[in-house]
Amino acid sequence: MDAKPNEKGINQWMHVDQFPEHLKKYWFQRFKIWEKYDEGIWMTSDSWFGVTPEPIANKIAAHISESAPKSATVIIDAFAGVGGNAIALARSGRWERVFAIEKDAKTMKCAKHNAEIYGVESKIFWLTGDCFDVIARFAGQKNVVVFASPPWGGTEYGADDVFDLSKMEPYNLDKLYTNFTKISKELVLYLPRTSDLNQIARYTQDGEKLEVAHYAMMGASKALCVYFGDFDFEIGQEQET
Ligand SMILES: C[S@@+](CC[C@H](N)C(=O)[O-])C[C@H]1O[C@@H](n2cnc3c(N)ncnc32)[C@H](O)[C@@H]1O
Repeated sequence: MDAKPNEKGINQWMHVDQFPEHLKKYWFQRFKIWEKYDEGIWMTSDSWFGVTPEPIANKIAAHISESAPKSATVIIDAFAGVGGNAIALARSGRWERVFAIEKDAKTMKCAKHNAEIYGVESKIFWLTGDCFDVIARFAGQKNVVVFASPPWGGTEYGADDVFDLSKMEPYNLDKLYTNFTKISKELVLYLPRTSDLNQIARYTQDGEKLEVAHYAMMGASKALCVYFGDFDFEIGQEQET
């Protein structure tokens, strides 16, 4: 896959000298983010801040696969970015259909190209637009899981010990939960590792449990996922033992 991007803002950085100075730390992490980086991954500058590293995306895809209701056959990645999660979900082979929504056209081009590198471009249905509008077309379907890795509000999100999800920009927890659970009660949110769990717990009914999993790389939590709805992690644990 040596196709070169021919549009300003879409980059295939193959050498450290080409790489923007303010992003330098990501150059050293590029193979932790994309195992196939050298095969010609395309990125926008902003996407380095939000892309889910491949080992984490694969782990999340495995967890969703093993715990989602068997009747669920469709998964929607509401904020597809450059494809980190959508590619992992498609590679899991668990879904009849994987939909990837992204509002930024250049970022979407990167995602499609990156999916081609991983051999799953044609397994994903690509929808360019605002997820809060686009997702409405899935209303009423019973077989859908929504995965969402929203923006967390820029690079300063981690400054507080506990992250206030009511202040997450541009979409807070309430907006995400309210909109996406109209489509499916099975909702997986990928959130900052310091997210306020009390705020999350308010969305459960009495006696109900929520699964929250931290995803770590090199011994440090990078993020957490909250699994709302009927995910059954007991099955996965039984299978693992
Ligand atoms: C944190 S990134 C997602 C990263 C993605 N999981 C990956 O691994 O590449 C969030 C993405 O959501 C997109 N976005 C923001 N608001 C959106 C909206 N309303 N509808 C669709 N996409 C949106 C941004 O352009 C950005 O690419």
